Amino acid sequence: MAIAATGNEAITLARTFRPDLVLLDLYLPDVSGEIVFRALRQEEETSRAPVVVLTAFEDKRDRIRLLELGADDFLVKPPERAELLARVRGLLQAKTLSDRLLISFLELDRIGRFAESFAAEGVGDWGAFRVADAMARELLGESPSSPDRPHFAWAANRVGQRLLATCWYFRQGEWYHKQKVYRVVDVLKALAPYARGEGRYACKEPMPPSLASWLGFPTDPPPANFVAASAEWGFLLLAGYPWEVGVWEFPVLRAAFRLWGVFERLRLEARQQEQAFFSTLEALALAAEFYDRDTAAHVERVGILSREVARALDCAPRFVRWLGPSARVHDVGKMTIPMELLLKTGALTLQEEALLRQHTVNGAKLLGFLPQLEMARNIALFHHENFGGSGYPRGLKGDAIPLEARIVRVVDVYDALRSLRPYKRAFSHEEALRTLHHGDDRVAPSHFDPQVVRAFSQVVERFLSLYPPLD
Ligand SMILES: [Fe+2]
Repeated sequence: MAIAATGNEAITLARTFRPDLVLLDLYLPDVSGEIVFRALRQEEETSRAPVVVLTAFEDKRDRIRLLELGADDFLVKPPERAELLARVRGLLQAKTLSDRLLISFLELDRIGRFAESFAAEGVGDWGAFRVADAMARELLGESPSSPDRPHFAWAANRVGQRLLATCWYFRQGEWYHKQKVYRVVDVLKALAPYARGEGRYACKEPMPPSLASWLGFPTDPPPANFVAASAEWGFLLLAGYPWEVGVWEFPVLRAAFRLWGVFERLRLEARQQEQAFFSTLEALALAAEFYDRDTAAHVERVGILSREVARALDCAPRFVRWLGPSARVHDVGKMTIPMELLLKTGALTLQEEALLRQHTVNGAKLLGFLPQLEMARNIALFHHENFGGSGYPRGLKGDAIPLEARIVRVVDVYDALRSLRPYKRAFSHEEALRTLHHGDDRVAPSHFDPQVVRAFSQVVERFLSLYPPLD
């Protein structure tokens, strides 16, 4: 409580003190009560505080004027103690409810904005845990002392009869999260005493320590004031609200929970769509293998090694995920080249060489124009471009060659060096690596992106078992 002796002092004090309620005398030594009232209503920090006007019995006109301006109540001086307490209590209750309603609206607005930013990042790239993690952190806020947020969250993805659950809380400046698998039936049983119907749960008391510990929360003391919601895709429980939970918390909880469910469905659909494209690429790779029987093991290795090089280069998860299936179809255009030319052991004529080079352009055409297959198309088209600019079909140079094609270029040549060809024996790993670094009569170091060669040299050591031992 704070008391001001003058009107101006009241205005200044209210800015810092942010009162929940103001008792305002109409007659003040410096300015009128009306001026103070208008000033309080104008400032955001004080505009929502209920104001009770204290007037003399004969000030009826002023009293009515203040009530018309929006004062919440009035009392005739000197107020009776019991009446004053009753009015103050009623107005404070109304203020608390109004505050919580405002917090709920702001939370709903924040959840909406969070959904927009989250969706913009490409939900298909996120794992189930990251969806739950982002949602939990959004609900808890960044600080353990948030005055208007719960302090503990527990979210669980349902997989069959099990729940993959994670609990979050903030303690001593650090986020804690622990993951654990539960049986659905056990969680339903543990929360049954707090059921409020329609998949809703609430409790104002501290959680029994055994339940808090089972859910992964600290027990010193266990969190109180929790609400939870369940649906076919999982559970969401928020605990440690800085007020007694009630009906106000459910709309926010349910909105967050439904949004989480939508994200889960979108995430799974995006992954299924990706799998459909991978199957298409796999079918094309298989068709190419049937056509050119020697390539089966080759495309398999190019897929694996390219993916691992991208991982070593710290590429985005989506890039890494797509590179394996996309690299496998790098030579899909060879299906458009006459078999006798592919099998020819002698030197090629200029015309034959030009025809063979067409496998890059034809491969890109075969892959079509869907944006999802851009990486595969780039690889098919540019996997014979040289970093120094001497490659084909376009003679692109340096970073103008898409990274995926620069990666496959290195892996493809290494793999060819390690393999038996009509014109050469199979090289050992050391010989092949030396050729990449120093060149020979067919290969020059300027063909390759040095950054990719460095990453490849480290990665390939772990995959030497992919190659048959040399005779
Ligand atoms: Fe090729």
